[in-house]
Amino acid sequence: MQAEDRIEVVVVRRDGPKEMPREERFSVGWQPSMNVIGCLQEIQRNPVQQDGRRTTPVAWECNCLEEVCGSCTMVINGKVRQSCTALVDDLDWPIRLEPMKKFPLVRDLVVDRQRIFSDFKKVKAWIALDGTYDLGPGPRVSQETATERYNMAKCMSCGCCLDVCPQYGPDSDFVGAATLNQIALMNSHPSGSLNAHERLDAAMGPGGIADCGNAQACVEACPKEIPLTDSIALLGRATTFHALKKWLRGDVTGHEEHGRHHLEGHEVHHKHHHDHPET
Ligand code: SF4
Ligand code: SF4
Ligand code: FES
Repeated sequence: MQAEDRIEVVVVRRDGPKEMPREERFSVGWQPSMNVIGCLQEIQRNPVQQDGRRTTPVAWECNCLEEVCGSCTMVINGKVRQSCTALVDDLDWPIRLEPMKKFPLVRDLVVDRQRIFSDFKKVKAWIALDGTYDLGPGPRVSQETATERYNMAKCMSCGCCLDVCPQYGPDSDFVGAATLNQIALMNSHPSGSLNAHERLDAAMGPGGIADCGNAQACVEACPKEIPLTDSIALLGRATTFHALKKWLRGDVTGHEEHGRHHLEGHEVHHKHHHDHPET
């Protein structure tokens, strides 16, 4: 590729959530190691369409530029991913940019992903510790557990797993794979496990694990390769056990009973999947 090569970039734009979408085409000068953010910066500097018509600069978000913050996530050539690590040389041209589909649109390529953080709060995805005095060294965990937890802890709340999930969306309460993974992660910590029951109650409540349809699209979409379906299966087993304990104590609710039956099926499905990896 030569410096004089030009990249055609198609941006699906909307001025606001109530406006109709429109496509605008731009021609951007190629540069070595250029990413999609570089294209958007070129368009921002000179917001003129391919046919010469002037337009407004395209709105998008970015921050870390190294696939850590998740803020630059958008749909690039039909795949939801981070625009900072999408190199133009690895993409088919024209490059088509669209906003994520499952979150409220703010403008152009900017969406409001606040719901992810609200759902993290809803399930208590944190470890409650009193930080006002020295607690001493934390509990020891084995290297094996630490490695497993590290893989689960790589989530950057980008929302890719949610954008592709058939069960997640504006008309559904389902919290999605990112939040279920957080529950499994927090509960697997020795300190976090002290209030695991609260997170398990949340996982068994409305919008919880019982709504997961096992489509497994989430695990394929996660840029951090988090074993999301393993986390969901782990949580499925934990909620089944938790529901059973509550039932034996006689304090199970109708909703949880329903969730328990669903989860038993869920667990069997995952077990089957592990036994037969080709399925
Ligand atoms: S397994 Fe399917 S339904 Fe469940 S969270 Fe992943 S994509 Fe959504
Ligand atoms: S689990 Fe993966 S895809 Fe989902 S929000 Fe976290 S990093 Fe993104
Ligand atoms: S800018 Fe932070 S992930 Fe792309």
